[in-house]
Amino acid sequence: MANSGMVGSRAEASEHELEAVSTAEVHSSDNPLMSGQREVSGNSELLDLSREAILIVDPEGKIVFWNRGAERLYGWTAEEAAGKSPVELLNTDLPRPLAQIENILRSEPYWDCELKQITKQGTRVTVASRWALWRNRSGEVSGRFQLDSDITRRKQIENELRILSGRLLSLRDEERRRLARELHDSVGQLLAGASMNLAMVQKRVSSTDAGSIRLLDDLGSLLEQSVKEVRTLSYLLHPPLLDEVGLPSALEWYVTGFCSRSDIKVELHISPNLGRFRNELELAVFRIVQEALTNVHRHSGSATARISLSRLPSQVRLKVEDQGKGISLPISESSREERPMGVGLSGIRERVRNLGGQMQIRSGTSGTVVEVLFPVEGAEAAGVK
Ligand SMILES: Nc1ncnc2c1ncn2[C@@H]1O[C@H](COP(=O)(O)OP(=O)(O)OP(=O)(O)O)[C@@H](O)[C@H]1O
Ligand SMILES: [Mg+2]
Repeated sequence: MANSGMVGSRAEASEHELEAVSTAEVHSSDNPLMSGQREVSGNSELLDLSREAILIVDPEGKIVFWNRGAERLYGWTAEEAAGKSPVELLNTDLPRPLAQIENILRSEPYWDCELKQITKQGTRVTVASRWALWRNRSGEVSGRFQLDSDITRRKQIENELRILSGRLLSLRDEERRRLARELHDSVGQLLAGASMNLAMVQKRVSSTDAGSIRLLDDLGSLLEQSVKEVRTLSYLLHPPLLDEVGLPSALEWYVTGFCSRSDIKVELHISPNLGRFRNELELAVFRIVQEALTNVHRHSGSATARISLSRLPSQVRLKVEDQGKGISLPISESSREERPMGVGLSGIRERVRNLGGQMQIRSGTSGTVVEVLFPVEGAEAAGVK
C-alpha cells in the first residue's frame, strides 16, 4: 500500500528519504498524493524531533504520516496507524462534522480545537489540536496536517481548581450568611436593648437638666445610626430579601443604597415575567450585580450605569453597563506586579461557570459591559421556584 510505505519510511534510513525528496522535486507533475508523500518522508526526521504528536492524512482522510510523538501519545505505532482514519482510530470527539472542518480549512489557514481522544491502551487524553491543509508545491491539496499537544494534565488541574474555587465561593457565601445572622442577632439585639434602656433613662432625667437631655438625645441618634449601619452591613453580607421576596426586590434595595452611597445614577430594568429561580442562581445574580457595580464605582469613573435582567425562553440574561473609561490592560509585567490581579471578575466568571452559564465582557473608551447568560430549565423556565 502506498500509504503504509510512506509511514514505514519514517522509521527507515534517511538516505532513502533524501532520495525520495529529490525524486519528488524532479517529478513534481506526478500524482499529487505520491509526490506529497515523498515530501513528508523527506522531512519526517525533523517532525520526529517534535514532542507533540504530528500526523498527516491523505485527501481520503487516511493516515500517511505518524511521528514518534504520536506513537508516544497514542500508543499506536506508525505501521499500525497507517491507512486508518485518525478520527476512528482515536475515537475523536469532534465538536462539529468533519466536512464542516474541512470547509473551514479551505478558507482559513488553520483550525484550532481541544479534542478528547482515546489511546491504544484505552486512556482518555485531551489535546490542543491544530489542523491545517497540506498543499504541495503547486498549491494542490495533498492532505491534512494535524499537530496535537497533550493537555490532559493541565485540564485535570484546571478542573480541580474549578471545583476548589467553586467550593471556596460557596463557603464564602455560607460564611457571609452566618456573619449576617450573627451581626443581626448579637450586635443588633444589643443595640436594640441599649435603645430601650436609653428610652427609660430619658423618661427619668429631670426636664430641667437641659445638658443631660441633649447628651441623651445625641446618644439616641448615635444608637439609631448604629442600628441602621449594622442592618445595612448585615443585609449587604446576605440580603434577607433575596430569600423572602426574591431577586427583583433585593436588587432594588441594593441599587437604591448603592446610588445614595456612590452618587452614581443607576437604571435598573427587570423584565416583569422574570419569576423565581433556584437559590444559588438568584444569589449568583445578586453577587454579580454587587461586584460589577462596585467595579463601576471603583474603576470606571462613570456617573451612570444600567442594569438589565431579562428572561429569554430558556435563559436568564444579566447585563451591567457603564459609560466610563473602560478596562485598561496592564501594559508591562512590572505594572502587572504593581497592581495585583483582583478577584472580582474572576469570581464572577467562576460563579457563571459553576451554574453552566456564559460570560462576556466588552470594554472600550465608551464604557464596559458585563453580560452573563444562565440556562434555566423546566419549572424554573416557567417562572416557578
Ligand atoms: N467597569 C470597569 N471600568 C473600568 N475598569 C474596570 C471595570 N471593571 C473592572 N475594571 C478593571 O479590571 C480590573 C479587574 O477587576 P476585578 O474586579 O477583577 O478586580 P479589582 O476590582 O481590582 O479587585 P477586587 O474586585 O478583587 O476588589 C480592575 O482592577 C480594573 O482595572
Ligand atoms: Mg472588583
